[in-house]
Parts: sequence; C-alpha cells; structure tokens
Amino acid sequence: MYNNNAFKLGVFSPNCSGGMAISTVPESWDANWENNLALAKMLDEAGIEFILPIARWVGYGGETNFQGSNLETIAWCSGLLASTKNITVFATAHTSFHHPIVAAKMFATMDHISKGRFGLNIVCGWNAQEYEMFNIKLPDEHEVRYEYGQEWFDIINRIWTNDNPFNWNGKYFSLKNVQGDPKPYGQNIPPIMNAGSSNEGQEFAARNANYLFTVLIDLESGAANVKSFKERTAKLNRDVGVFTTTYVVCRPTQDEAEEYHNFYANEKADWPAVDQLMKLQGLHSQSFPPEAFTQFRNRFAAGHGVYPLVGNPDYIADEMEKIYKAGYAGTTITFVNYLEEFPYFRDEVLPRLESKGLRTSPIT
Ligand SMILES: Cc1cc2nc3c(=O)[nH]c(=O)nc-3n(C[C@H](O)[C@H](O)[C@H](O)COP(=O)(O)O)c2cc1C
Repeated sequence: MYNNNAFKLGVFSPNCSGGMAISTVPESWDANWENNLALAKMLDEAGIEFILPIARWVGYGGETNFQGSNLETIAWCSGLLASTKNITVFATAHTSFHHPIVAAKMFATMDHISKGRFGLNIVCGWNAQEYEMFNIKLPDEHEVRYEYGQEWFDIINRIWTNDNPFNWNGKYFSLKNVQGDPKPYGQNIPPIMNAGSSNEGQEFAARNANYLFTVLIDLESGAANVKSFKERTAKLNRDVGVFTTTYVVCRPTQDEAEEYHNFYANEKADWPAVDQLMKLQGLHSQSFPPEAFTQFRNRFAAGHGVYPLVGNPDYIADEMEKIYKAGYAGTTITFVNYLEEFPYFRDEVLPRLESKGLRTSPIT
C-alpha cells in the first residue's frame, strides 16, 4: 500500500459469488477458495497493491442470489496472506459483529502472519436485513452508527498501542483489565480504510482512516468530493487518501467491450437481485445519491452501481488517468470473471499506466 505508485489499484469483492456483476451468465464469478487463491497469486505477481473483500451475510435473492455465497473476510484474509508475498490483503469487519478485544487480536495475528501486509476495512453498517439476522438493531441515525464505530476502533487502537492493562467505561462497552499482545507487526498500525458517504461517515474516515472509499458518479462531482474531503482532513491535520471503485470490461475494441457489457448487464442481468440491492441501499445507506437509483439501474446490474470502465485498453488507461487527475489515490477494479479477464488487463492496461507515469513495473 505504501509503494511509490501514484495511482494504486486493488481488486474488490472476489470473495463474493457474482463479484460485483449481477448477471446470470455462466461465466459469472464462482467465489470458491481455489479461484480466490489463484487470483490473489496472480495479482501479487502483477504488482497490484491490494485485495479488498466485501463482508456480506445475506444474499440479494433473484435467480442467482447475488453475493449469497461468500467467504468470511477474516478467515479468507488469513489464508491469502499466508499464501502471498507482497500484496496487502484487507479484511472487512462490521463493527457490531466482532467484539473489539477479539478483533484486535485477530487483526494483529494476521499482521504477523504476513509481516505487516494486513489492512482493515471498517464497516459501520447499513444493511438492516443482516443486522436483523444477528438480532442487533441497526441504528437509523448515522451519528449513532459511527459513534459506536468510534468506540469500537478506539478500544482496538488502545490495545494496539498500550502496554498496560486498562479499564474501559464507554457508552457501548464496559470492559475490565483490557490487554492484548502481540501488537501489530513492527508496532505499526495497519492501513485503515473506511467507506462512509454520509457526513458522519466522512468525519469518521477523516479522523481514523488512512484511506476513504467513495463511490464515483461522474468525474466532475468526484473531483469536487475529493476536494471537500481533503479540506475536511486538513482541518484535522491529517492526510487521508481517497479511493474510488470501478468495474472493468476491457476488450481489444470498443465495440467488443460494449457488446459484452450489454450482454451480461442488460440481456442477462438478474433484475430481481438488482432491484433488491438498489432498494436496500436506497433505504439504509447514503453511499449513492438518490438520483443514482433512477439513472443507473444498468450500472447496478453491471457492477453494483460503481463507475464503469468499458472499452479498449487505451480508453481504460485514459479514464484511469482522468480519475487520478480528479484527485483519487487509486481505484478498485472488478471483472465479471476475474481469473479470465484480469490477464488481459494486466498485459494491456498496466503497461499503458506505466507509460503515463502513474505506475511502475513490479520488481520481480
Ligand atoms: C468500496 C466500498 C466497500 C464497502 N464494503 C462494505 C462491506 O463489505 N460490507 C458492508 O456491509 N458495507 C460495505 N460498504 C458500505 C459502507 O460501509 C457504508 O455503510 C456505506 O458506504 C454507506 O455509508 P454511510 O453510512 O456513511 O452513508 C462499502 C462501501 C464502499 C463504497
């Protein structure tokens, strides 16, 4: 994560069935362990900076039950860290589902397994259906979600940075004689990511994270969002990088890319699952502005609503350069079938990004 590449790349959601594409095509992503392991090794060799999983507990129904089968992110992360060399692997943790003392220990353990390549993506909750399954009430107010998240993260941080046992008397946790060893590898706090879109979410990221994740609707509003977030962090004397998230359909010609895009995300979309995802996101999360749900149904089918990169290698590299120029530190990418499609992206798009000075070749 801390290399010199100006524009960093991560691969998002390979632990979930379907990845980010809500489609019934037969090549749709099978999120089994063998596929995840093969993909992680391929990404590691290609010099991709990180892999980021989605923590999902209930699928979105439809014909495919999109994301209904998914590898639990902490166990998945440990396995991948033990099997790779350079890449950072994130675990995604819901603050309400993991006790902070257990979480601090699990995260530190993964950091040791990997000699400092563990990253933490903090999720303060939005999906009420999942919370119901745990019999935990998802607070309607974003202030409460992030206040809880703050206390959760403060406890973890204190365990990681404090050699002496401490008592904790907070609003949500009351704990005695709290201690935890080992600390993270080399006593360094792992990279922290947070995807908060609401005002409270962005404040949380500004205070605690190294990277904020935001959804990109268009380049103009994206540049304005990065600018206003940077102003927010400057007031706190913190430097927090902003990442966004995209899906990629890269083919030798623009026509081929658009044809396949139309096929998997229109003709073969799993529309009931698309509508369920959009309904839940619209009800409980502020990830997307309200107009996104009326304008971008197809974008949700194609890639969970994130920014489309559909075209030939020149087009994709040019678009990535524009995202960089809008102020983003990097983006995640996804594919309908990661293992089949990433090699073409690696061979054709990465060298173009290198020519633009946005990345360098990995040292082999
Ligand atoms: C890139 C990205 C990754 C996310 N990962 C997860 C996840 O794995 N699990 C989850 O329940 N929510 C996830 N979210 C949702 C966020 O945690 C958050 O709830 C959402 O962005 C709404 O933010 P807000 O509550 O501040 O409006 C993700 C969002 C983004 C943009």
